[in-house]
Amino acid sequence: MANGMSDDDKVGILVVDDQPNQLLSHEAILCELGERLVTARSGREALQRLMDEDFAVILLDVNMPDMDGFETASLIHQHPRFEKTPIVFVTGAQPTTLDRLKGYRVGAVDYVEVPVVPEILRSKVAVFVDLNRQRRDLQRLNDALQAEIAQRRNAEEAVRHSREKEVLLQEIHHRVKNNLQIITSLLRMQSRAVQDPAFSEALRECQNRVASMALIHDKLYRARDLARVSFAEYVRDLTNNILTSYALPARSVRVRLDIDDLSLGLDYAVPCGLILNELMSNCLKHAFPVGRSGTVYIGFHAEGEEELCMVVRDDGLGIPADVDLGRTSSLGWRLIRALVEQLGGVVQCQTAGGTSVEIRFTRQNAPQDQASAVRGESPHAQV
Ligand SMILES: Nc1ncnc2c1ncn2[C@@H]1O[C@H](COP(=O)(O)OP(=O)(O)O)[C@@H](O)[C@H]1O
Ligand SMILES: [Mg+2]
Repeated sequence: MANGMSDDDKVGILVVDDQPNQLLSHEAILCELGERLVTARSGREALQRLMDEDFAVILLDVNMPDMDGFETASLIHQHPRFEKTPIVFVTGAQPTTLDRLKGYRVGAVDYVEVPVVPEILRSKVAVFVDLNRQRRDLQRLNDALQAEIAQRRNAEEAVRHSREKEVLLQEIHHRVKNNLQIITSLLRMQSRAVQDPAFSEALRECQNRVASMALIHDKLYRARDLARVSFAEYVRDLTNNILTSYALPARSVRVRLDIDDLSLGLDYAVPCGLILNELMSNCLKHAFPVGRSGTVYIGFHAEGEEELCMVVRDDGLGIPADVDLGRTSSLGWRLIRALVEQLGGVVQCQTAGGTSVEIRFTRQNAPQDQASAVRGESPHAQV
């Protein structure tokens, strides 16, 4: 029945009797159950055993010197830990109804009479052993369930926290974008209000710079990933904004985009966006004077795991011989040089047959980017 059980799986049966031969006889009958049998020679010893371990059932002799079975049972059941431990009384003679009642009052669940019928004693004890094992299994199941509930609760809490954080971050991007948009509107209004064309132009350029940052926060606010911008999408929108801002005569300049769909964190997206804004603005401003048409090529590629290469090329006039882009104190290139330094990158310029600017930098902790990319001409990039 219970053979092959580990000691941990066995349940305890406490047999209490002052007579050694009775204890031996009970042991002989009950050892077949294969459980853990513990004996005690008196009520006091029984109480001591109970302090050490739990029992599925107590077989308790009624007639014992010093402290009889009733007294022992009453003391046992006074203790909160054992108040539900079943007690089967063993009585020498046929117990009277009064005795039985007395026993039930102190917590007896059953009676057996001496001489005991082995099968009856075994069956009665086996019932309590089974009950105890079921209760133990249920307790284990319950513990496991409680642990799972606690685990789930923690996981839910973590999800809720991260959702709250996301909502907060989204809100921040939204507000930053709104504030930057207010600044661009102010600059636009100011640019229109001033009479001096050079000053007006400077204000418009500032407006584009701020707008290029606002666009990043707009993208982040709308994106599923609140920390990274899809750079291809960003460049497409940035290009359209700049083209709209310069309002070149129809069809004079085409823009060709060739951008790997990399997602960039704010640390990279903002400086890259600002650099692109400067380079693209320069193409539209300087490379194609009235009457000259051409193409601006914008490329952005990952080379290897972490190196990125950004190219802006035009087939326009080329850089005037007297301008050294590495040293010029004009604001646009001063900004570009500072931002490239911030990225830890290097710039290479070529001015044969137009202008080509190539910027390379290494990205730390580059994530796995998707393979898709934006190629071809931007739908609005033709003006
Ligand atoms: N793509 C280009 N094509 C022709 N000339 C350019 C181009 N980019 C820059 N330049 C020249 O380099 C100069 C410095 O550029 P920049 O520092 O951006 O100043 P800004 O655009 O305000 O004039 C420009 O004034 C222009 O003469
Ligand atoms: Mg410029």
